[in-house]
Amino acid sequence: MAVDNEGMRIADDLPPPTLIFTSPSHQYPTGRVLSVARRLALLEYARQHGCWIIEDDYDSEFRFSGEPIPAMRGMDDNAPVVYLGTFSKTLFPSLRIGFMVLPPMLVEAAQPAIRALLRGGHRAEQRALASFIEEGHYARHLAAMRRLYRKRQAQLRAALEEELSVPHQLMAGEGGLHMTVAIDGIDDVSLVRQARAHQMTPSALSTFYLDRQHARTGLVLGYGNTSASQFAPAIRTLQRLIAPLRRGQG
Ligand SMILES: Cc1ncc(COP(=O)(O)O)c(C=O)c1O
Repeated sequence: MAVDNEGMRIADDLPPPTLIFTSPSHQYPTGRVLSVARRLALLEYARQHGCWIIEDDYDSEFRFSGEPIPAMRGMDDNAPVVYLGTFSKTLFPSLRIGFMVLPPMLVEAAQPAIRALLRGGHRAEQRALASFIEEGHYARHLAAMRRLYRKRQAQLRAALEEELSVPHQLMAGEGGLHMTVAIDGIDDVSLVRQARAHQMTPSALSTFYLDRQHARTGLVLGYGNTSASQFAPAIRTLQRLIAPLRRGQG
């Protein structure tokens, strides 16, 4: 799907789908936030065409700027939306605990699927997490992590500004744990391969496009588990690797 400054664009020229999978609070990988107008339009489109929407809200706990926008699930009690949340970003991925908020009309139909999804052996983690939330530790942890990641994102922006001299564009950055930097006209797949040899694992922006012919190139940089002191040297290395890839460019 095409994504612009207001997030995912509804494609009126395509046949209506059965299911719409979207991450409106932070489109992956561009980081764009779906505007309120687009959310309402998408809900209306889904209602008109009988589609279900899956709202994958994987990191909205970390929104650093901009107006807070309600989840699509919460915009209307009867919205045809299944909301997915996760503790992978706010706590840690190997916890393997997420949650789903279903519209009332799906609760019964979803029972067999939920039974099939449930695996035994997670009771202790689930109970510990429930106590962690109930006793207020989770809210305190979120507040602390929000401060940490806000600062870290600002440090990454500053390092990019200082160290990355090739023409580039930050695609968004109102929150989350990654920043997407478009750098047009490079072989980003080759860049990522070379970066691995320097113990860096960015992702190549072009690989997220279905239509590679019209893909933008660049890097998706995660900063959740990288300390800010590593940013400047890492970006200097990337800059060194990018320069030869741009030879012959105007
Ligand atoms: C787009 C997106 N959705 C969801 C998730 C969370 O997945 P899980 O809860 O299975 O770890 C991630 C994690 O990286 C993600 O990038």
